[in-house]
Amino acid sequence: MCRDLPIITIDGPSGVGKGTVSRAVASRLGWHYLDSGAIYRCLAMAATAQDVALDDEEQLIQLAKKITLCFELAEGSGELSVMLNGSNVSALIGTESCGSRASKIAVLPGVRAALLEKQQNFAQKPGLVADGRDMGSVVFENAQFKFFLTASAQERANRRYKQLKEKGMSANLEKITRELIERDRRDSERSVAPLTAPSDAVIIDSSDMAVNEVIEMVMTNVS
Ligand code: DC
Repeated sequence: MCRDLPIITIDGPSGVGKGTVSRAVASRLGWHYLDSGAIYRCLAMAATAQDVALDDEEQLIQLAKKITLCFELAEGSGELSVMLNGSNVSALIGTESCGSRASKIAVLPGVRAALLEKQQNFAQKPGLVADGRDMGSVVFENAQFKFFLTASAQERANRRYKQLKEKGMSANLEKITRELIERDRRDSERSVAPLTAPSDAVIIDSSDMAVNEVIEMVMTNVS
């Protein structure tokens, strides 16, 4: 990893919109983008496909070393394609179930360590926007610009519900809220690299903000 490379980290809980904001900022700056959650989701998916238990740390570490990942950010649409072992898994890893399995394997210290270098390798010229839970606190702790997005659990659940409905999918607001709170709890209470706002991060509460306002706020802070 190049030490002088400009890096923006955008951390926050599930469903806070950090992916949308990070992709827009990366695209405006012409920088690379790391969706670290997608890496944990891919490993969870590979584990399920190969019958590896989600608490079998040793096997998960071996699997983490074996998988090949490739990310592509489409220029016009800003859409992210994720390739796992050569197959496009973008839609498959986007489910709540995959997110919840990713959160379960993410508590294991050996798994986090095995995925660290894969994430740090994304730091390439001309710069990187990285989104996740521990981008500013662990993976890129020397990043020049750190942000932490928050929004109430109810607001994040409402947004997720609306998104699913707009896609014509069935959704249950109560279940979404319950699962989101459970994932927040697991991600915040784990012993290694828990979800937390780095002390040097700009905290943005997006509960009453439109996504474009959040993007502008990040852009203003980094320019
Ligand atoms: O951001 P996401 O919803 O795609 O992340 C899925 C899970 O992966 C999240 O609940 C916890 C884990 N994760 C993590 O532990 N550290 C990261 N930097 C990113 C995600």
